[in-house]
Amino acid sequence: MTRKTSLSRFGVSLEGDLLERFDAYIASEGYDNRSKAIADLIRKEFVSDDFKKGAIVAGAVTLVYDHHRREVVNRLMDIQHDHGGIIISSQHVHLDHDNCLEIIAVKGRGAEVKLLADALKSVKGVKHATLSVTSAGK
Ligand code: NI
Repeated sequence: MTRKTSLSRFGVSLEGDLLERFDAYIASEGYDNRSKAIADLIRKEFVSDDFKKGAIVAGAVTLVYDHHRREVVNRLMDIQHDHGGIIISSQHVHLDHDNCLEIIAVKGRGAEVKLLADALKSVKGVKHATLSVTSAGK
């Protein structure tokens, strides 16, 4: 971070049962104070908004597939080469005798990231795929 931000305080009025549910929720998520939980929820909304509006986001595509199906491996490789501009790195883990886990770190516009994730997950033979999007830090 190059820019310092000062903290501002503000009051929030909530219905009692909503606050009760919020406190229970943040406790179950491991928060020990409301400020950090509220800030994280706000940032989560902003990440979602950035994604929709085409701002630069960072994220990870996670894939599980059986490497014995050679055409799957080749297809996944082709797709990644086609989207090389937004792929930062990838990690391959041999989960067991059959299954591979691949974690592909990406940074790019929301629509580009989604296009890549959709292309990878739709490859026949991919057993599970997720896209996790986070802020690019701006
Ligand atoms: Ni493997």
